[in-house]
Amino acid sequence: MAHKVFLFFLFFVAGTAIIVVGINGFSYYTTPIPQRPFLPEYNTMKPSGNYSHGLGIIGASMITIGVTMYSTRKRVKKLWNLGKLSRWLEVHIFLCLLGPILVVFHTTFKAGGIAAISLWCMVSVAASGIIGRFLYVQIPRNLKGSELTRQEINNELDRLRDEIAHSPLGIQLVNKIDESFLAIPKPEKLLEMFGLLIRLQNTRRQVKHAVREMIAKSRMTGEQTRSLYKLASARTTLVQKTVLLAQVEKLFFYWHAIHLPFTVIMFITLAAHVSVTVLLGYRWIF
Ligand code: HEM
Ligand code: HEM
Repeated sequence: MAHKVFLFFLFFVAGTAIIVVGINGFSYYTTPIPQRPFLPEYNTMKPSGNYSHGLGIIGASMITIGVTMYSTRKRVKKLWNLGKLSRWLEVHIFLCLLGPILVVFHTTFKAGGIAAISLWCMVSVAASGIIGRFLYVQIPRNLKGSELTRQEINNELDRLRDEIAHSPLGIQLVNKIDESFLAIPKPEKLLEMFGLLIRLQNTRRQVKHAVREMIAKSRMTGEQTRSLYKLASARTTLVQKTVLLAQVEKLFFYWHAIHLPFTVIMFITLAAHVSVTVLLGYRWIF
């Protein structure tokens, strides 16, 4: 419940910020670029104007904080007990999705010079982040958000099988879950993976539905029903994630290899962009 409130809060803040900034500058952004200097709000709305300049500073700060806090939490052992890694990733996504949107408003939808390189790197990194997040959730993790080893996955699968096998529906329920995933073919090419991963998600949904029906037909008490469904659900999700695990890990590795260098180029060109603007005398409100 607390997690849902937390996510709702992040969505609410991001949604409100985008709507407010979008409505506030709507007439400026929809005016053709050559006519903008004749608008009364030009001096505040142009990229170096107090308002849009401020959006650039806030957006870039959000991205910088979002990247450093996640990387630090992930790498510094002393911080590993500080909340789940997945919560930190949610904050990373919040800051690094809202930040780039504010930066796009900062540019007032026009891009030139070295800042354009930073802009397109930023857009590519944020867009590729969505693919990364999709792959990230396909990898089994423990409660702290760290990847499970093969041994830990097998132990967990055994534990779930044994507990389900001791229920009135027994090994029949375990087989029902496992067999449903056998029909998924191995991908010939890495790019086929996305189609297969979506197919796996649909299979998981169908299996959970079938399991719910099997449990409902048995004559168990409400409490037994709930705990068996929880176990069956956990096994279904874990089996789903193991089907293409090796390929997902490979793809996630390649994804990291693209995501990171683009981030570096973005920050280097951002530093150049900020230095140039400061040298030109654009100091914002300082
Ligand atoms: C990732 C972050 C950022 C990106 C991608 C970005 C991108 C851009 C782009 C595309 C423009 C418009 C260039 C044009 O007029 O064609 C611009 C203008 C500008 N940006 Fe940024 N910006 C970022 C962050 C910042 C920050 C943090 C500052 C200030 C410290 C800043 C200060 C400015 C200023 C002053 C201008 C106006 C320059 C002029 O009119 O000559 N930007 N930026
Ligand atoms: C300009 C925006 C963004 C930048 C600069 C950025 C940068 C980074 C960096 C540097 C990492 C590597 C962290 C590490 O391993 O130390 C990372 C990881 C990640 N980011 Fe982003 N990111 C951005 C936006 C996004 C967005 C919008 C999403 C999702 C919608 C996202 C999802 C992820 C995921 C899933 C990981 C992998 C986490 C892991 O392997 O532990 N990112 N990001």
